[in-house]
Amino acid sequence: MKGIVLAGGTGSRLFPLTKITNKHLLPIYNRPMIYYPIQTLVDAGVRDIMIVTGGRNSGDFLRLLANGKEFGLKHINYTYQEGEGGIADALGLAQHFADGQKICVVLGDNIIEHDIREAVETFQAQESGAHILLKEVPDAERFGVAEVSGGKVIGIEEKPKRPKSNLAVTGIYMYDASVFDKIHTLVPSHRGELEITDVNNAYIAAGDLRYDILSGWWTDAGQFESLFHASQLIAAQRAKEARS
Ligand code: DAU
Repeated sequence: MKGIVLAGGTGSRLFPLTKITNKHLLPIYNRPMIYYPIQTLVDAGVRDIMIVTGGRNSGDFLRLLANGKEFGLKHINYTYQEGEGGIADALGLAQHFADGQKICVVLGDNIIEHDIREAVETFQAQESGAHILLKEVPDAERFGVAEVSGGKVIGIEEKPKRPKSNLAVTGIYMYDASVFDKIHTLVPSHRGELEITDVNNAYIAAGDLRYDILSGWWTDAGQFESLFHASQLIAAQRAKEARS
């Protein structure tokens, strides 16, 4: 399985922190944000990784990560997203890299406590389709929200005013090669972006989307509160590790 970290976008919700650098280079406690999604993939046994980035500071990723020696990698692939066309637009740039294989996608601002190895292995065994990870949250209106019935996701709404559940769709997505055909059929949403939620709903329409509930804590780090919260969670985790 190939791994893709999406680290494009302008990070406008974090201005002025992101005025002169890319959001994913900001610190989460003692490491740059981008380290966490890369570690998520490496911990799941994924070694062939592409980073999709963009903006004026994209060269800094190469200087920071080089070939990924710090993660035990021999090589990292990079590609560049022009503008901020949305998560699905960024993912579409990885089609050549995916080369018909299954992929595990992690959003560059998503940070988790536990590893996702089991979910990745389950998806490896899944013949086709998509596999997403959901998490119960108190503020579902900030995320893509899944409606679940009879053990299946029957619909996902992006940032609904009145969420139908407390199950957020985390930024960890596993797809078969048909994801790129689905991306090609998308039209921009009202915010002018190709939405990953539309991709997931296309899999639901095809009857080919499964899910797990993510264990351990999960947070994004794209707003001041969540950026701060992510550092607190990692600091607490490091302190716990130091005690044990
Ligand atoms: O964090 C999980 C949530 O992420 C999901 O629940 C939502 O369904 C999904 O749409 C997304 O919501 P956000 O509004 O938080 O996404 P955001 O625009 O902050 O982008 C998240 C990451 O995706 C960002 O850190 C980098 C990458 N990205 C985003 C855009 C818009 C790109 O690589 N290119 C882009 O153009």
